[in-house]
Amino acid sequence: MIFLKSDDEIELLRESNQIVAKTLAEVAKLIKPGVTTAQLDKIAEEFIRDNGGVPGFLGYHGYPNTLCTSVNEQVVHGIPSDKVILQDGDIVSVDCGVFKNDFHGDSAYTFCVGEVKPEIVALLKATKESLYKGIENAIEGKRLGDLGNAIQTYCEERGYSVVREMIGHGVGRKLHEAPEVPNYGKKGNGIMLKSGMTIAIEPMINMGSRNLVFEKDGWTTRTIDRKPSAHFEHSVVVRKGKADILSTFEYIEQVLGNKAI
Ligand code: MF3
Ligand code: CO
Repeated sequence: MIFLKSDDEIELLRESNQIVAKTLAEVAKLIKPGVTTAQLDKIAEEFIRDNGGVPGFLGYHGYPNTLCTSVNEQVVHGIPSDKVILQDGDIVSVDCGVFKNDFHGDSAYTFCVGEVKPEIVALLKATKESLYKGIENAIEGKRLGDLGNAIQTYCEERGYSVVREMIGHGVGRKLHEAPEVPNYGKKGNGIMLKSGMTIAIEPMINMGSRNLVFEKDGWTTRTIDRKPSAHFEHSVVVRKGKADILSTFEYIEQVLGNKAI
């Protein structure tokens, strides 16, 4: 069952997503070599609660934290820890959810820690760009296969691979709603998108093989070949002609300044 949202509901979703965006900007201020992912999690939780929200991931199927922090070969769902100390040259995907006024916000950004190798920066740029290629297809009358195909084509043309096990999703009163939103697919396949559908699009793109394994903690996924993986996510509303992006990277990019990728 896909829930179409009213304009009032969309504004509540926007508010939750704007808090997510500002939380990620607070995290961006802290990211540097020597910082632990537990420290990032702590400031994110405080910021969300100060803004009248609740961490959207905390307790979800038993998930223990506010953020997912996935470093280098970790793909998604990395658990923040005081034992994970960010190092110069690392990349870290920070995924954040906020629940407020009965609606979930969900967005993610992959950050560079210090100086990162150019080929890894290129992976981040391509993954972020592929998210916007997906968003260009989040319009009424297109099909989910068109959206997934746009992401897949963009990434595979550049020699990267698209993760299959984890996908985007509808978002609203629940963090994960119908429909499933794969980052791969065939043009013309899948359900037709309608104005008012709200979806989280989240390409997870690997430098090497697309295959993953689960770490022993039961959450963290990493690439089987231990090559880096990138992840960017926006929550959007399907509209006629142009999607409305509910989250934003604007605040993050203000913090990063000329270091933004
Ligand atoms: N953006 C991620 C997802 O949609 C966040 C979920 S983390 C979880 O899968 F811990 F809440 F599962
Ligand atoms: Co998501």
